[in-house]
Amino acid sequence: MKITIIGTGYVGLVTGACLAELGNDVFCLDLDEKKIALLNNGGIPIHEPGLEEVVARNRAAGRLRFSTDVGAAVAHGKLQFIAVGTPPDEDGSADLQYVLAAARNIGKHMTEFKVIVDKSTVPVGTAERVRAALQAELDERGVAATFSVASNPEFLKEGAAVEDFMRPDRIVIGCDSTPEGERARELMKTLYAPFNRNHERTYWMDVRSAEFTKYAANAMLATRISFMNELANLADKVGVDIEAVRHGIGSDPRIGHSFLYAGCGYGGSCFPKDVQALERTARGHGQELLILRAVEAVNDRQKLVLGGKVTARYGEDLAGRHFAVWGLAFKPNTDDMREASARVLLAELLQRGASVAVYDPVAMAEARRVLALDLAPALLARIRFAASPMDALNGADALAIVTEWKAFRSPDFEQIKARLKEPVIFDGRNLFEPADMAEAGIEYHGIGRSV
Ligand code: UGA
Repeated sequence: MKITIIGTGYVGLVTGACLAELGNDVFCLDLDEKKIALLNNGGIPIHEPGLEEVVARNRAAGRLRFSTDVGAAVAHGKLQFIAVGTPPDEDGSADLQYVLAAARNIGKHMTEFKVIVDKSTVPVGTAERVRAALQAELDERGVAATFSVASNPEFLKEGAAVEDFMRPDRIVIGCDSTPEGERARELMKTLYAPFNRNHERTYWMDVRSAEFTKYAANAMLATRISFMNELANLADKVGVDIEAVRHGIGSDPRIGHSFLYAGCGYGGSCFPKDVQALERTARGHGQELLILRAVEAVNDRQKLVLGGKVTARYGEDLAGRHFAVWGLAFKPNTDDMREASARVLLAELLQRGASVAVYDPVAMAEARRVLALDLAPALLARIRFAASPMDALNGADALAIVTEWKAFRSPDFEQIKARLKEPVIFDGRNLFEPADMAEAGIEYHGIGRSV
């Protein structure tokens, strides 16, 4: 099938590359000339395991193209995926300017039937706004072509995006029950047929429900994390091991094991933004989402928990102290630092007068960029970007772990002890067992593990 993907960000690039991998003829459009030039030179603007290979293979096969040519992009695909960014507006609602600009561009160029597929995470009612924006352009040009707007939210996780796209748990598609909507449904059915060979994974619904499903999923996952974080903080006070509790409750199939890991808060481009946007949607309809308000507040507080443990140990004034920080990305296998807990911890340590040495397996360049935006030059000057995890430790009072990279899971504890001034670890991701740490002679501060 001929497919156009508008936007080569995380979702757009992965969707385009993976749909090409299935044999489709994919045209990716982005207005950012630099990004398109990079992609056309074999580069990849994001760090995502496996993506570079899929892009290279499909470009070489002629099934995947990158361009800034709007007219050619609109002419190419019967299916036009909108996968542009929906950053949070000042009030927390999703900013739809890029989505609606994409819709207008389609309307400015299309001459025959198209299906517009909203892949970006967009609030309920966006498809109707896309339809209106596109129709206004058609009317202006006096073109009578018909179209349909479908919703097909993406559930991939950063760091496992290719795998998630190629082996989806479910495919959610919302279509209208109009004749055009039926045509959209048939095209989407054909497109996704390769994923449904063994068993049907597609959930068909109306467009609004599909839009809402995406927010409901992320809000539920964020709720589970904040719930466990809140219990972990209590566990610390009452001498309970939250990890034992996690196993104990997760074994109930009604609860399940996933997304119950307590830690130093969730970050990324999705949970914080989507929880806020759903709250904003509710407020717009006179409803307060009390649970989600708490989920957000608990998460904001949780990002301060590691810093709190550090000050409980060393006092509020950290002048003259030096800390090693392992992990900067908001989660492993990505260099993404949006809403990353490390940013909050670093700001606190530096503002209290400490100096730090930081290390992340892939986010070092991104860290230099975002920390320069976050921090005043005087604070930034107290950060050393270390060459390796062990290098970061040299002469530090303690180690703080913020991201659960695999490379941090089985370190040489003797080396850690030799390099730190005192063997103290603040573990924001509960990577180690308190009993093992005690045996190794390491003072260990996990999250909810003060048994
Ligand atoms: C999330 C969802 O998991 C995807 O299904 C969704 O498609 C995506 O958002 C999106 O809306 O685009 P992502 O933000 O890439 O994916 O990352 P997650 O793996 O969900 O992790 C989010 C954050 O939660 C990380 O900071 C992670 O450390 C934290 N987390 C996760 C916990 O603190 N505890 C857990 O048990 C799980």
